[in-house]
Amino acid sequence: MRKIHISASTSYDVLIGEGLLDKSGELTRKVVKPCKCLLVSDDTVDELYGDRAQISFTYSGFDVARFAFPAGEASKNLDTLRDLLMAMGEAGLSRSDLVVALGGGVTGDMAGFAAAIYARGIPFVQIPTTLLAAVDSSVGGKTAVDMPFGKNMVGAFHQPCLVLTDTDVLRELPPEQLSNGAAEAIKCGVLNDEALLTLLEGGDWQDQIDEVVARCVAYKRDVVAGDEFDTGNRAFLNLGHTFGHAIEVCSRLTVLHGQAVGVGTLMAAAAADCPEAMLRRLHDCLKANGLPTRCDYDAQALAAAALSDKKRAGSEITLVLPEEIGKCRLEKRPVSDLRALFEKALDALERLNA
Ligand code: GLY
Repeated sequence: MRKIHISASTSYDVLIGEGLLDKSGELTRKVVKPCKCLLVSDDTVDELYGDRAQISFTYSGFDVARFAFPAGEASKNLDTLRDLLMAMGEAGLSRSDLVVALGGGVTGDMAGFAAAIYARGIPFVQIPTTLLAAVDSSVGGKTAVDMPFGKNMVGAFHQPCLVLTDTDVLRELPPEQLSNGAAEAIKCGVLNDEALLTLLEGGDWQDQIDEVVARCVAYKRDVVAGDEFDTGNRAFLNLGHTFGHAIEVCSRLTVLHGQAVGVGTLMAAAAADCPEAMLRRLHDCLKANGLPTRCDYDAQALAAAALSDKKRAGSEITLVLPEEIGKCRLEKRPVSDLRALFEKALDALERLNA
């Protein structure tokens, strides 16, 4: 089992290894005294893994209630949050009790936000069951729900007290979900870790999934330690997200987040005039991981969609632009540049896919 310690306003461990789901109660007991806990999942994950988590927590002395909501990003809203808060109340949780988020990014973000605001903040544990949540959203304390005016627009910083990533669970993911998470790992490789990109570009890294998760979490540990509240260098984690966000919006969220971030990372590199060999390498890495390398929308539609990005500040947007593999820069650009940047990126995609 690997252990990565996160130092933020509160500190905690991320444990990565095989068989952790069935030890989740025992491992949690080392950081939280047995108490009441609400196990939160979507209905798919609840059916797959809810019983095993409940047995483990119950066996370790926790008094477990369960809350499951319909799977999908559409559930990450105030209505589900309200139901979740009511379930926490009905389970009789007090400030010293616990929320356990068992699931992907939607579950972690929403259960984390409920834990942040219930009784002015109670502890929560993240047990990510998707690769995307394991390499990114379960670590660093960003919690939120979506609003009609934007994704993650109502939320809070609230660090978990423990993150448990069971690599056996990740290995059971369908290929599309593994690809979706691989995109965030590719992003980490481009940002800071050429060896990680090398590991990913064969597309056959599943036997080393613990190494992939650990390298991403180690990078995130360093970023969060330096900028927990996202006022500076945490913005590097948004590589590929401005371009990807535009694709997600244009597709009305039918393109998965990771799929959009993957091609968005390639588009950012193209917009930054990275050398052709680097673009080709990224393109081939996306393909090897079953990720899209095309974009179906035109520059005008993408630029308009990018304007709804919360990373925009008035007439400027901060872009993360790759310089070489393992090195990127932040650059503020007027939003009026967006259309030309998307045009350049789309030209590159056409060339690379020809
Ligand atoms: N997922 C980006 C961040 O944690 O800042």
